[in-house]
Amino acid sequence: MASRRIPIVAGNWKMNFDHLEATYFVQKLAWILRDAHFGFRRCEVTLMPPFTSIRSVQVLIEADRLKITYGAQAVSVTNQGAFTGDVSADMLARLGCTYVLVGHSERRKYHPEDDANIVDQVRAVLAAGMKPILCVGESFEERRQGIELEYAVGQVQDVIRDLNDKEAEQMVIAYEPVWAIGTGMVATPQSAQEAAAAIRTHLGEVYGDDVAQRVRILYGGSVNASNATQLMQEGLDIDGFLVGGASLDADEFATIARLTDKAASARR
Ligand code: PGA
Repeated sequence: MASRRIPIVAGNWKMNFDHLEATYFVQKLAWILRDAHFGFRRCEVTLMPPFTSIRSVQVLIEADRLKITYGAQAVSVTNQGAFTGDVSADMLARLGCTYVLVGHSERRKYHPEDDANIVDQVRAVLAAGMKPILCVGESFEERRQGIELEYAVGQVQDVIRDLNDKEAEQMVIAYEPVWAIGTGMVATPQSAQEAAAAIRTHLGEVYGDDVAQRVRILYGGSVNASNATQLMQEGLDIDGFLVGGASLDADEFATIARLTDKAASARR
């Protein structure tokens, strides 16, 4: 069952790469992956550019018929109107976005995004026909108290509790311990697998095994080309990565994608 999930390697560019840099990056990445005969049907490669670069990425991907997908880093909960600076889910869908990050810890920290708001974002993304990548994960404090699993599972529970089976299946969940993001301190493969397994068990309890086995669960937090294989090899519940810093280097990001594909293929 686990082997049927297509792994995802997602690059979260955060506030990096203007539209010219984005174009150059995508060309380079596509060239490296083509050269490596990368199997996009076996492993999905997706990029999360800042809003201002999405259109350029779309044009290039469509013109060159690249197999790379893309998405956005944030979304408004409302559809249109007097919300200065916001971007709606429909606007992102019109740009061909497949995914939207929801609840990233940097959004939770720097913007007034609480669970209620995150639930509405998930609803907006699903209603526009895209897939939310819901980010959850404990801070150092919860880890110190030894409640990291309950915390991450609780965050998932709070956000998905009202979704029906079909909606739940569309979710991608990224387990990202906050203390590991951008710090170089990666979770051990055991603890990353344990958290992914706890989240999948919870999904099974709420939606049944069929749905739980379809949802892709990613790990994020200081992933790079040196730790990706081990993180994938620990168990069967991690279906790829949400990569920040290392996604800004086309060679390294392509290597992470190749290693993820290889480790996932070994499970089949
Ligand atoms: P990082 O970021 O890989 O730089 O730790 C991950 C993320 O924030 O999604």
